[in-house]
Amino acid sequence: MARTNRQKCKDFIFFPLRALTLHDGDRWGLSSLASERFDYVAKEVRGYCLDVGCGKNNRFVKQYLGGNGKGIDVFPYEGLTEENIVRDMTHFPFADCSFDSVTFIANLNHIPRSNRDKELAEAHRVLKPGGNIIVTMGNPMAEMLVHHVVHWHDKIFGTDYDMDSERGMEDEEEYYCTNSEITERLLRAGFRNIAKKYFVTQWGLNHLFVGWKRN
Ligand SMILES: C[S@@+](CC[C@H](N)C(=O)[O-])C[C@H]1O[C@@H](n2cnc3c(N)ncnc32)[C@H](O)[C@@H]1O
Repeated sequence: MARTNRQKCKDFIFFPLRALTLHDGDRWGLSSLASERFDYVAKEVRGYCLDVGCGKNNRFVKQYLGGNGKGIDVFPYEGLTEENIVRDMTHFPFADCSFDSVTFIANLNHIPRSNRDKELAEAHRVLKPGGNIIVTMGNPMAEMLVHHVVHWHDKIFGTDYDMDSERGMEDEEEYYCTNSEITERLLRAGFRNIAKKYFVTQWGLNHLFVGWKRN
């Protein structure tokens, strides 16, 4: 799945085109925003992984980690089974210290505000000592734009990329989380050595945070 340097160059040059049209699947020799973010996150994963808010088809664990993990979501999207569905995400159905990595990909902002600390604390609990958490989040303007572009793309072209409209956004969800909010929440949950890494091929408009559970 790793992209070649040539592919990365093409993706970098055509980023605006991709941002307007390629949200889910690769096409025209270009990577979609989804496959690209999964690619960036997969590089940070250290072993058996829990993907929180996995979305349709549990795609990250199945296609990018070779099945080495579990994906959970609040909504019964296409391609998920009962074992993927966790309606109350303030309690993850896993024992302490079960995973090497926990990922929150493009979804922290979709967790109701009052539950974000609880879910991050659960992530800390189910991680092994020395394990890591990876949280991705777009730049606020880019997140607002992409949410609207995806919504209207589905309406105009009859596609079904907009998982948030399919599920129906709740009151306490938002279009983005700020960097300071993410860092403060990760620290409160017990994570340390937090680092921010930009997605270069998305012109730095998307990025991820990695934090570590102490040994
Ligand atoms: C924009 S989608 C991202 C899906 C997938 N991670 C991806 O990158 O394609 C946001 C996801 O967050 C999920 N979500 C909603 N509420 C959640 C919660 N309380 N905890 C965890 N995930 C939640 C949604 O069901 C949806 O799958």
